[in-house]
Amino acid sequence: MSSHAAPIPASRGPVEWPDALLPQVEEILSRYPTRQAAVMPLLWLAQDTWDWLDLDVMRLVARTIDIPPSQVHAVASFYTMFKKSPTGKYLIQVCQTLSCALVGAEAVIEHMERTLEVDEHGNSKDGLFTVLRVECLASCGSAPMMQINEHFYERLTPATCDQIIAGLRSGKPLALPRPEVDKWTFPVS
Ligand code: FES
Repeated sequence: MSSHAAPIPASRGPVEWPDALLPQVEEILSRYPTRQAAVMPLLWLAQDTWDWLDLDVMRLVARTIDIPPSQVHAVASFYTMFKKSPTGKYLIQVCQTLSCALVGAEAVIEHMERTLEVDEHGNSKDGLFTVLRVECLASCGSAPMMQINEHFYERLTPATCDQIIAGLRSGKPLALPRPEVDKWTFPVS
């Protein structure tokens, strides 16, 4: 899940936790022996609130737990699940690590980048999608795979990616075959 690049994110201006979220912030802090240990759940809450993490949001998290902003930035930069720039409605994270690479990850990634016409930040021409290359997402036995927002899609081919994208574009995403598992695994072809 580590990211290779750690660009300095832009700044949208100072932010504070909305009053309605303060009980949740306190509840998160209460779960850990030290305030500093809450850095990841607070980054997650911040991302949920502001959609992506800019420098001011990271400064807020740093103030909340009394650590330097550089430490918060280091954590946010390491994990691709933390967004450091605006993304499309659908964040597509395609695994490029060995198990996926051996069974066609590169073809899947190139196909997605080409058909969605992504720019150098991975954002599609229509702004709906963002395609990112990420490291292992722990679904190696069903490679190649990708995560779109919260859902895993496994045993992908360029053709199945087209199916998935068409479903998202039409507003009728592929129904999860087993909703309790929360992922879509295509049959072995
Ligand atoms: S190598 Fe792709 S999910 Fe592990």
